[in-house]
Amino acid sequence: MTFTWGVATSAYQIEGAAAEDGRTPSIWDTFGHRVVGEHGDVACDHYHRMPADVQLIKSLGVDAYRFSVSWPRVQPGGRGPANPAGLAFYDRLVDELLGNGIAPWLTLYHWDLPQELEDAGGWPERDTAYRFADFSALVFDRLQDRVKNWQTLNEPWCAAYLGYQHGVHAPGRRSMRDALAATHHLLLGHGLAASVLKKPDNSVGIALNIGTATPHTDDPLDIAAARRADGNVTRIFLDPIVFGHYPADVLADLHQQGHTLPILDGDLAIIAQRPDVLGVNFYFGQDFAGRDEQGHTHDAQGLPIVREIKPDVPTTAMGWPITADRFTTLLLRLHHDYGVPLAVTENGAVYDDEPSSDGFVADAERTAYLAAHIEAALAAREQGADLRGYFAWSLMDNFEWAEGYGRRFGLVAVDYETQTRTPKQSALWFRDRIKSGA
Ligand code: NOJ
Repeated sequence: MTFTWGVATSAYQIEGAAAEDGRTPSIWDTFGHRVVGEHGDVACDHYHRMPADVQLIKSLGVDAYRFSVSWPRVQPGGRGPANPAGLAFYDRLVDELLGNGIAPWLTLYHWDLPQELEDAGGWPERDTAYRFADFSALVFDRLQDRVKNWQTLNEPWCAAYLGYQHGVHAPGRRSMRDALAATHHLLLGHGLAASVLKKPDNSVGIALNIGTATPHTDDPLDIAAARRADGNVTRIFLDPIVFGHYPADVLADLHQQGHTLPILDGDLAIIAQRPDVLGVNFYFGQDFAGRDEQGHTHDAQGLPIVREIKPDVPTTAMGWPITADRFTTLLLRLHHDYGVPLAVTENGAVYDDEPSSDGFVADAERTAYLAAHIEAALAAREQGADLRGYFAWSLMDNFEWAEGYGRRFGLVAVDYETQTRTPKQSALWFRDRIKSGA
């Protein structure tokens, strides 16, 4: 089985050209301007520099490029016919990639919901799933003759919980009820879109942020806390997609909290679109404890404590613990529990890059992070996980959502004043690593 090496980006994080060729605002334009104070109006100006960026991708020697399609560019307002200029951009991108021997891996939804659909209720509204299916069909009709690797959603947990429960991502709402409704409707959107995308020679999947929830100690309360954390982030998405039902323990916990999911008859049969390749976005693992710092086992509402504890290991500049060993365990667990082919669709690190006068970044720490995680992923493959690929996040520095431009994940440095791109040491290392094979 061939192994695919790639780099990844997403539309809102790199494209810019926010008001060009008929594109309308997404929830991230609104949130970026109103809340973050930074936004993707220009970003990496990729929309205008795409052919040169494809040459940059080519120079890394990768097999594939994972990107997303901007919904409000292709279908302004989220309803109705396609915007020809918007679709034409992705048409050109795909041709440019294929002409340079790079396979396109296309993600349909990487968080840029058209603002009009949010105004009509957003993901908590059932209709949004059907709007997403229509948008997916527009993209599919235009590109299916050339794109073979499709992913419906990117990290729906973030879209639902960071966006609708914690309010730290667009659209910035704070309601558990909305987050749960968003979860179910994102999954419904996955199912509806996947049934459009499935064709014998297509690979259709979804990219999930899958953490590892490790009990902090072997205390049964910590074990229960880790089970809850895993249920709320990973199994609530994966079980319906692979097995066609929500995990019973998660439903029981939700019930105990007075919450339900807005499931209608037939929904789970729609959602159960088993991925041809499950995209795994991995950055770090966490420990969980069932007691708070004062030793309480329940919060003021009487709900069990699920306390996140950072493992005591070095962190990246984002403060994220470096837990490469847990990555091997995670991939093996996904293989054993779900039996689906896997690809690492994102993995990478933020460090405080210090470019020298010529713009070169000698990012030894990022290089070490990537090296450790690639070897950890390949160790899982050695031990039997059906791992088909690895995509580094990210091709280049870009708009890191609520963190803005200060947090740099790129293998290639971007000088936002001049839009100059300079491959970092990690990019050169990655190119060489690819040459030595999986
Ligand atoms: C996950 C997201 O998919 C991506 O957009 C983001 O930039 C990275 N993680 C890093 O936080």
